[in-house]
Amino acid sequence: MNRQTTSNTRSLIWGVSTSSYQIEGAANEDGRGPSIWDTFCRQGKVDKNDTGDVACDHYHRYAEDVALMRDMGVDAYRFSVAWPRVLPTGRGAANEAGLAFYDRLIDALLEARIEPWLCLYHWDLPQALQDLGGWTVRESADWFADYAGLVGRRYGDRVKRLATFNEPSVFSLLGFAFGAHAPGLSDRDALHRVIHNVNRAHGRAIDVIRATVSGASVGAVHNVQPCLPSTGSTEDREAALTFGQYWNSAFPDPQLVGRYSPLLEAALAPLIAADDMATIQQPVDWFGLNHYSPVYVQADTGSVIGCGFGPAPAEVPRTAIGWPIQPAAFCETLLSLSDKYRLPIYVLENGTATRDQILESGAVEDPDRIAYLDAYISEMHKAIDAGADVRGYFVWSLLDNFEWNAGYSQRFGLVRVDYKSLKRTSKSSAHWYAETIRANQQRHASRDTTVAGNNR
Ligand code: GCO
Repeated sequence: MNRQTTSNTRSLIWGVSTSSYQIEGAANEDGRGPSIWDTFCRQGKVDKNDTGDVACDHYHRYAEDVALMRDMGVDAYRFSVAWPRVLPTGRGAANEAGLAFYDRLIDALLEARIEPWLCLYHWDLPQALQDLGGWTVRESADWFADYAGLVGRRYGDRVKRLATFNEPSVFSLLGFAFGAHAPGLSDRDALHRVIHNVNRAHGRAIDVIRATVSGASVGAVHNVQPCLPSTGSTEDREAALTFGQYWNSAFPDPQLVGRYSPLLEAALAPLIAADDMATIQQPVDWFGLNHYSPVYVQADTGSVIGCGFGPAPAEVPRTAIGWPIQPAAFCETLLSLSDKYRLPIYVLENGTATRDQILESGAVEDPDRIAYLDAYISEMHKAIDAGADVRGYFVWSLLDNFEWNAGYSQRFGLVRVDYKSLKRTSKSSAHWYAETIRANQQRHASRDTTVAGNNR
């Protein structure tokens, strides 16, 4: 008997992920317009007043970065298009020089036999659209659909994997409830408008992508993590339930099941027009998952949603950025998502911030990253063996980069970036990841041969 069609005998896609504002730099070149993150950085809201003006200078060094990925042996690369680079004011006339950059990048990837995975929105909204109300106004869904059409028509001959939004719950909550990300607001009404309009924009864009890209394989990228109470108090336990509805289900549920959770449905009711839920719920091909750790939650009367991030129990080990290391939660999340939404899952981000050691030889050692990735990848294999339909795994991130409000203080890369010289150095984890990819490809190749052999 063979079972070669089950997920545990299918080979996985191995990749790395980045995003435009975090790596590109060239913020004022070739006609790029400002984004809300340029503004937020200028308002002194980021650690050490860091900005994405130069970042990793990927805009000029993309060929070197593609070569690094090729040497690592990755199958795929997820990046995002900077909306203000291709449409400097968010709508209207396109910027040819900006569009041409992604042509060069995509062509270099294909030449290196790396599949491009393009994400339309990784948080850098054109400032001109923010000035018109941004995601809080219903027109934002039209702006996004037009932008998706531009991208689909331009790159759809070469790019088939397209995601609409990256982590909508993170940018909506951190940007509109907790004020920690651009545009830096704490406004419950704005938060609810953003949630609903981003969902509408997702549905509209899926439609447009299908119409402009033949053979498109589409989805959205959601962060899903168990939301656990910081303490056993009734307030914290209730807070964790509330938080979980915003964090884990405000986007996937309407997009994939066609409804909001009871709490959100009540809060959003006045915003929902007759056809909205049908617009939002478009068939997608996969579920993009970003997962790093569980989230600990506490009640917070000062928060516009009554709750917020809380401390993890003292005994839980943490990464350099302070996030809990609890790999078993990854396996649980994969199994529960597979069961709930019945879609193939691509893990489009998993990784860790570490303090790397630079040896005298210049080599960069990051044993903590290797230990983290090894533990999380093992949990993914456990989930696959238990029936989760996981099809791919992407490390966050290829390069050390601009870590949002933490600026350059946190390093998530498999490749170290010296922010003065912009020199790249593959860390020991990059070599380890290359080996891991090779070993997995071989394992699947030999398993496929065995299965095929049994078949004869
Ligand atoms: C996110 C984003 C990335 C981050 C990464 C590490 O998950 O917040 O997708 O842009 O840099 O997750 O925080």
